[in-house]
Amino acid sequence: DVSSEDGGIETKANDALISVGFSQLGSESTWRSANTESVKAALSTGNGFFLIFDNARQKQEKQFKAVRNFISQRVDYIVICPVIQEGWDVVLAEAKDAGIPVILLDRNISVNDESMYTSFIGEDMYAEGASAGKWLEEYLDSRGKSEEEINIVVIEGTSGSSAKEGRAQGFGAIAARHMNWKMLASATGEFTQTKGKETMARLLGEFDDIDVIVCQNDDMTFGAIEALKEAGVKTGGVGEPVLISFDGTRKALELVKEGVINVDVECNPNSGELLAQIINDLEAGREVDKAYYMEEKVFTKENVDEYIEDRNY
Ligand code: AHR
Repeated sequence: DVSSEDGGIETKANDALISVGFSQLGSESTWRSANTESVKAALSTGNGFFLIFDNARQKQEKQFKAVRNFISQRVDYIVICPVIQEGWDVVLAEAKDAGIPVILLDRNISVNDESMYTSFIGEDMYAEGASAGKWLEEYLDSRGKSEEEINIVVIEGTSGSSAKEGRAQGFGAIAARHMNWKMLASATGEFTQTKGKETMARLLGEFDDIDVIVCQNDDMTFGAIEALKEAGVKTGGVGEPVLISFDGTRKALELVKEGVINVDVECNPNSGELLAQIINDLEAGREVDKAYYMEEKVFTKENVDEYIEDRNY
């Protein structure tokens, strides 16, 4: 493959290979690195692909620029991990006019005309949020706390991203069933460890009665744990705040095993192989579905042992 970290995109070289322009949204998290690696491994030259990689560093503008570069090079396919949901109509119309199929990976978008893209391969963020909410419901119930007032803070991912919005809505739908769940605050941690720590420290300064901390990804959880440690607050145990996370990275699963994180809802980054298969199907003229969702699990102390060893991220 050919990597271009700065938008200085390499030119398409070998016509025998299927050329794919891949606009990755950034490198903010452990999950993101795993997703990038999964795509690079699957769309390798050995597998018949010529991959042009661009890292947009969290900027939608950079994604537009990358897509336009891919169009001007007449790549065979464009793959986008969209940083936020809105604003894609114009650039996707340009790709459509150029006759280049667009495949969305990981995060979803909001467009008026769904014919603007060929297929979506990603995670069901709403279901992930709902799984976290349902786990909390059962956990509180099993401890006889279903009627108690429960104070919840949420450290959110990138504002406007389908990952943040979907998880917030899914969790919110379950929270809405419980008048005793009080959402004290919801603040961004931008899916990074640094920002997660900063936000957790601020929330600890604002509230002294937090029962549940929901971090919308593992990196923010790692940052939050640092801030909690510095404040002398332990999580996960009896009488301690409940810690809920998303992604299912190996390091987080180890913390689930240790009892520091109570539950980790998986977000599966290993979509490269399915992406390669969908592109090969399109090449062969086969019909593909409009959406494919990755299989995802919920990890707790009870089942985590089965999965730690095989984690590749
Ligand atoms: O879109 C997937 C999310 O983005 C993952 O939860 C997170 O770690 C990443 O940054």
